Amino acid sequence: MHKIAVLTSGGDAPGMNAAIRAVVRSALAKKASVVGVRNGYAGLIAGNLTPLGARDVGGIIQHGGTMLGSARCPEFETEDGRLKALRTLHQHDIDGLVVIGGNGSQAGSHALSEMDYPVVGVASTIDNDLYGSEITLGVDTALNIALEATDRLKVTAASHQRAFLIQVMGRNCGYLALNVGIAAGAEAIVIPEVESSPEDVAREVRQAYRRGKTHALVVVAEGAEYNAPRLEQFFHENRKRLGFDLRVTILGHVQRGGAPSSADRLLASRLGGAAAQQLIDGERGVLVGQIGGKVATTPLAEVVAKTKELDPWVWELAQVLAR
Ligand code: F6P
Repeated sequence: MHKIAVLTSGGDAPGMNAAIRAVVRSALAKKASVVGVRNGYAGLIAGNLTPLGARDVGGIIQHGGTMLGSARCPEFETEDGRLKALRTLHQHDIDGLVVIGGNGSQAGSHALSEMDYPVVGVASTIDNDLYGSEITLGVDTALNIALEATDRLKVTAASHQRAFLIQVMGRNCGYLALNVGIAAGAEAIVIPEVESSPEDVAREVRQAYRRGKTHALVVVAEGAEYNAPRLEQFFHENRKRLGFDLRVTILGHVQRGGAPSSADRLLASRLGGAAAQQLIDGERGVLVGQIGGKVATTPLAEVVAKTKELDPWVWELAQVLAR
């Protein structure tokens, strides 16, 4: 393989730049040249490419976001869009592609791979909902940003003996909320994977006060049936009966914008480096992730067909630790 391309796609994740850098420098070490694709699959369809040398990826490892830009691209979900993308790759004599992204992006990798084009994915999403990697790029940084916010909320909650609710991202996956909840010492955690009503949340907060706690923190996943806006409405309407009010913070995209932690830079360097090496060595149709602490590949067909489950023991542990 003489020339490969790299793109970042879907929600940006801290560590994407470190992964781009690792792809470029690992490919160059194997005597292959690299082109960057701007703005994900949209750039591939439009032919928006830029050559990337070793110096072009200097000074980016410490920055969040992605120097190549990212996008969500509905056109790539159509066959016509994918054919246009393939045309770009062939027109520019590109022999293989590295796709840095999460579920939607790797569904795209799988589609290209099914069209017999050599693709290797790099597991990247703050949601940690991608099968084939126990941890994905950006998760550690997003967790740390959410923790900094929860620690601050606890300071003001303690001063006023208040209950606070913080909503974190994660799409339909409760991983971020569960782990922020444990690490922040939350009194209650609400995630999509476990059914819980507003009355359940109110009971947990009330019981925390009865056990002698002077303030309470509830961490909610954005994908939960009763998310922050719904819980806020419930608590507001029932505040007299419940005996306490709840202040709400929705963290949102702040979680994605941080400088990558050391863990994310190292993970990105390992996964990006391995993706380029394996693609050039002839691997195709796989996701490069981390399993059992080691770099591992999983067929993209399996990645798109399977769902990553939360560890039920960790959920039970969170309930015990909240006492
Ligand atoms: O997948 C990453 C993520 O940040 C999710 O947690 C969130 O639901 C979604 O992206 C937000 O998407 P957008 O940035 O397109 O609004």
